[in-house]
Amino acid sequence: MNHTGIDKVTYGVADIEAGKKFWIDFGLTPLDNGSGHEAFAAQNGSVVELRPVDDPDLPSPVGEDVNATVREATFGVRSKEDVQALAANLSEDRDVREDADGSIHTVDPLGYGLSFRVTQTTRVKAPEQEVNVPGRATRVNKRADKYDHATPLEMSHIVYVTDDIEPHKEFYVDRLGFKLTDAYPGRGYFTRGAAAHHHHNLFLLNPGHGKRGFHHVAFEVGSIHELFGGGNNMTRQNWETMIGPGRHPISSCYFWYFKNPCGGAAEYDFDSDVVDDNWEAREWESTPENFAEWALAEGMASEMMFKGIQGSFRDKPAE
Ligand SMILES: [Fe+2]
Repeated sequence: MNHTGIDKVTYGVADIEAGKKFWIDFGLTPLDNGSGHEAFAAQNGSVVELRPVDDPDLPSPVGEDVNATVREATFGVRSKEDVQALAANLSEDRDVREDADGSIHTVDPLGYGLSFRVTQTTRVKAPEQEVNVPGRATRVNKRADKYDHATPLEMSHIVYVTDDIEPHKEFYVDRLGFKLTDAYPGRGYFTRGAAAHHHHNLFLLNPGHGKRGFHHVAFEVGSIHELFGGGNNMTRQNWETMIGPGRHPISSCYFWYFKNPCGGAAEYDFDSDVVDDNWEAREWESTPENFAEWALAEGMASEMMFKGIQGSFRDKPAE
């Protein structure tokens, strides 16, 4: 099956205005897609859509955050034939609705809204990495870029908390053809679309507390400088860090997560593993050190920045 990755996430959210500000500050571009709903795009055309919590077209919320959560994840596939094959498969034991735009909609075994469509994303290319290290200078006579905000290139993954992880994983991997890329056996499974190259497009996590719910969506940015520029901008805009900045040993990326009024968190990532069928999945012990090589728990708020540097903005009276 030719799943290309994540195309769209649809939130049901009570406070649409707060959600709108969050995604604009995060760096997505407002989109007029004719749906009548607020929508925002990453550079590759992957979309975040915000709908009212009582939208009759949305599946019921999963988990406790009924006023702010993802209600449906849409994965792209290469062709109409792929969509038809998935529709035939899913129709065997659940209701599948086809919309006028050709997308199909159902729910997964835990009730999470699941949709497939011919992908509407395009390939994007980050700017050349110009990095100077001894013997390998790629930025000569040129100052490095500095970012006052991020402009995410693409949405890369979604994470669900699950309390029934083995059947949940089997549904996506054994039945729908997602590929397993790494695992905390019995506790967490990283999977990617079969035609995608992100380390993961869908991560299922069972933290062992018997609950289920949406956890976060992640976006790739083009450089480490952009990741820090984006995170610092979100902090200046008074969005709260969930965790970060930091670095994941699994998938290798730098990360920074922000709490999202639409539900869960949104994550900036940089330098994630890119994989194909030659990737060797590993089993990992579920430890804090395997989650993060290092991480700041509460971001880099102004009281932590420029400490002791005389004359910094910290010392200036508020306007
Ligand atoms: Fe993530």
